[in-house]
Amino acid sequence: MHHNIVVSQEIRPNKVYLVTYPDGSQRYVKKYLAQQYQNIFDVLNTLKQQKFRNIVKIFDVIIENNELICVYEEACKQNLREIIKSNEKTFDTQDILKCLLDIIGGLLELKNLNIFHRDIKPDNIVYNGQDYKIIDFETAKRFQDDRTKVQSVDIGTINYRAPEINQNRAYSSQCDVWSLGCLFYYMLFKQEGDHMQQLSIPQNHYYDDKIIKILKSMLEKNETKRIRLDNLQKEVQELHNIYNNPTQSTGLEQNTTNLVSDINTTIDKRHNNINTFNNIMTKLIFKEKNEQKIIKLYQFWTKRLETKFSEEIQQRQKIEKLLLMQIQEFKQKRIQIDVFASIDQIKNELNCIQDLKDFYDF
Ligand SMILES: Nc1ncnc2c1ncn2[C@@H]1O[C@H](COP(=O)(O)OP(=O)(O)O)[C@@H](O)[C@H]1O
Ligand SMILES: [Mg+2]
Repeated sequence: MHHNIVVSQEIRPNKVYLVTYPDGSQRYVKKYLAQQYQNIFDVLNTLKQQKFRNIVKIFDVIIENNELICVYEEACKQNLREIIKSNEKTFDTQDILKCLLDIIGGLLELKNLNIFHRDIKPDNIVYNGQDYKIIDFETAKRFQDDRTKVQSVDIGTINYRAPEINQNRAYSSQCDVWSLGCLFYYMLFKQEGDHMQQLSIPQNHYYDDKIIKILKSMLEKNETKRIRLDNLQKEVQELHNIYNNPTQSTGLEQNTTNLVSDINTTIDKRHNNINTFNNIMTKLIFKEKNEQKIIKLYQFWTKRLETKFSEEIQQRQKIEKLLLMQIQEFKQKRIQIDVFASIDQIKNELNCIQDLKDFYDF
């Protein structure tokens, strides 16, 4: 490599490097072996110097000493696996949908150029703080059109590999949708499938039915029945909008949302005071991102109902049910929460929340 470029880190021995240029900018450099040239050279040259939203920008493709060298212009800090590992607790449905939508965008950008990626997995997605981008075109190939079927070869990463490839049948760009389904599963349940076993949906989850439906449509074994990228984009976009619209989104999952709106309609018929109180609690919980505080808010809510509106037994039972669902959801996501705090403790911990303080003898 050139003398004025410094290797800052060897990511994969003899293969992937993080390099620093004299002006301080950083780039990733990946070297490919000669025997892999053709496919990759074709793909990289097609992508080179183009601007995509969800594909990492390729700055240069060089052939030097019988090696093919790809220089990525953008050097993102972490790949998706690292991001999820370090933010397991906070990588929530909103983040998952945004990430999924971005990768779908990237796959569509590739599909427009008749390129199949064939190795979609968390290690091959990076995040620049704003958008998720696809990297690693080692197994990518450009076809005559996006419906081309090719004969199987063992390609990609086994736990993310589509059944048609595993069974040595001809496959199409739909194989990337399967891998993306496996990746979606990983983001939702923070565990990876095993190719020896069918991916099963954990029983105790509180994800919206629509999310599970989309997941299943991606993990459809029959590739012709498997959802196509453009439809997938529409469906995920719709869900993403719901989760990002504060008037519709609760920050909780849909199951709980229905319960909350149910509560709100019953409240409307009752005394104004409890109505306002419940509304405030609902809003606070919706706004709150911190899991500990969400639990505390629920606890405060039920305890306050118990002491102030003791006749509202049904109300309280509903909120208690919500609290339990929330606790289970967090447990399922392996979030440690401490429950059963005393009301004084809760008050202390919540006393930063001005709305509550102002409203209820806090
Ligand atoms: N442009 C980039 N931005 C951020 N991270 C990158 C970039 N290119 C590579 N990496 C990091 O290096 C790792 C290996 O690169 P990759 O091209 O996927 O090689 P491999 O063939 O070993 O999978 C990736 O998982 C990612 O963490
Ligand atoms: Mg890779």
